[in-house]
Amino acid sequence: MARKKIALIGAGNIGGELANMLVSKQLGDVVLFDIPQKENFAKGKALDLEQASALSGSDSRVTGSSNWADCAGADVLIITAGIPRKPGQSRDDLVATNLPIIRSVADNAKKYCPNAFSIVVSNPLDAMVYEFQRRTGFASAKVAGMAGALDSARYQLFLAREAGVSVKDVRALVLGGHGDDMVPISSATTINGVPVDRLIAKDKLDAIIARTRGGGGEIVSLMGTSAYYAPAAGAIAMAEAYLLDQKRLMACAALLDGQYGYRDLYLGVPVIVGAGGIEKIVDISLTADEKAALEKSASSVRKVVEVVKNAAQ
Ligand code: APR
Repeated sequence: MARKKIALIGAGNIGGELANMLVSKQLGDVVLFDIPQKENFAKGKALDLEQASALSGSDSRVTGSSNWADCAGADVLIITAGIPRKPGQSRDDLVATNLPIIRSVADNAKKYCPNAFSIVVSNPLDAMVYEFQRRTGFASAKVAGMAGALDSARYQLFLAREAGVSVKDVRALVLGGHGDDMVPISSATTINGVPVDRLIAKDKLDAIIARTRGGGGEIVSLMGTSAYYAPAAGAIAMAEAYLLDQKRLMACAALLDGQYGYRDLYLGVPVIVGAGGIEKIVDISLTADEKAALEKSASSVRKVVEVVKNAAQ
């Protein structure tokens, strides 16, 4: 069987870490794609990673390119093209710069990678993945946004540290838009089956939820740019679930068609990811407070989507 091909659109901080994880997990051959001005940078990163693979014993190939033809026929596309946040910026502040970039990526993806499972990471996430799917016309099952995996991971880590348990034992779900009003679902959060509120006091839990919501911003203010290890790990979990048909239930941004009461909107919800892409959107019942919080988050996403819809094509 031929090796799978994974095209990474954007060879910056997240793109580089994605390539590193793909090589170490030997999930397939990797194309690190960037704009012509950064072609040599992408080629250099690719070479560095291949040389590392001689030490780690991975046979995955990595090539750097600024030619879309090199991405042709990719099985998976992971899109991080665009600028990241700087201190003081919200994700929504990136829309003017990242919208034309996502549109040009969508046009090329449609031409060169029509069969790929596409995972969008560029921010503002929910609006960018909406526009990518609309512009390509790809089946919505084959276009997902990476946010819930990352936001849930941040929540899990903070819960594990507070409870003094292994991160492996924390199961948690963060839904809604990838913004400061994302919705950690405490009713679906357990520590190896034990409801989280039996192990962590309410004030501590509230502080953890606040820290999770601002988790991206906390890193931007420390580093001057946005996170890349955990976002890459989130996208890899999704790519791996697809390539290995794992049927994982995870939070991803998916195009809703009535689920949770929303239509024509990408929003973070629990989905099952397998060889069919987003094989199912899982419609769990939420408490009244969670529903209200989801509505607040959805209305923030809608505002950015409106900006995108109204921007000249
Ligand atoms: N096609 C391909 N790559 C592009 C394009 C394009 N049209 N436009 C820009 N890029 C590239 C940039 O040249 C840069 O190398 O995207 C890369 C982005 O890398 P970084 O600046 O290091 O940003 P990164 O931290 O990887 O984040 C990328 O993901 O999480 C989001 O908010 C984050 O929107 C940002 C994106």
